[in-house]
Amino acid sequence: MYVDRKPSLDLVEIKESMSKKLKETEGFNSLAYFDTLVDFVELNHVYSSALEEVTTKLKILDDEFQVIHQHNPIHHMERRVKSTQSLLSKLERKGLEINVATAKENILDIAGIRVICNYIEDIYVLESLFLKQEDVKLLKRKDYIENPKENGYRSLHLVVSIPVFLSEKIAHTPVELQIRTIGMDMWASLEHKMRYKNTKRNTETYQTALLECARQISDVEEKMQNMHNEIEK
Ligand code: GTP
Ligand code: MG
Repeated sequence: MYVDRKPSLDLVEIKESMSKKLKETEGFNSLAYFDTLVDFVELNHVYSSALEEVTTKLKILDDEFQVIHQHNPIHHMERRVKSTQSLLSKLERKGLEINVATAKENILDIAGIRVICNYIEDIYVLESLFLKQEDVKLLKRKDYIENPKENGYRSLHLVVSIPVFLSEKIAHTPVELQIRTIGMDMWASLEHKMRYKNTKRNTETYQTALLECARQISDVEEKMQNMHNEIEK
């Protein structure tokens, strides 16, 4: 049902990059440095619990759908907690301080889940059922299906806040959801690969072809949705 994407934990790399950054900060002290490292490890735990909560909610909806409509809206899910290295790089890129308070406040995709659906209508049905739940608070929504990006990218992006019940407190934790069809996912994976493999020259070379593929995928999805609706009548 879901795939966990566990980033490799390169402790040596984290240690080097963190100590370099923190030493540059005024009044560096190693105790504070140690505390910050521990904070980042704890942060990882809370965000993976938040992913667990969201995955369970979606799985329950998917199972119920199967019972009522004999159809599973979700094909599969992939989830990951952002690696400490990329979290540190993102903080740095945005010119933010290296501490968990800043990370919690400014980086909304520390916990990310990709929900791959069978049909376009499944995406919106799932969204509305999920957002109706009283402990789910919508923080941000971008509909790149209604308004695809210039390059052809399509997906529904939501950032929600979810309560995680810990022994001493309730941690309201943001989780980013990317909800898309199998076709949209196939497109995004290739486009991503082109962008990160062999520089941006690839993306430029295939720009027009990629856009055309996005349009064709969208046409095929619409036709298949219509046929699916016909047989379900
Ligand atoms: P950032 O995560 O800081 O970039 O936040 P944002 O809100 O500006 O980004 P947005 O919601 O537009 O996109 C977040 C994520 O969606 C990215 O990290 C990618 O995983 C995915 N994404 C967005 N645009 C593209 C695209 O053009 N191609 C692919 N393959 N993925 C995309
Ligand atoms: Mg992101």
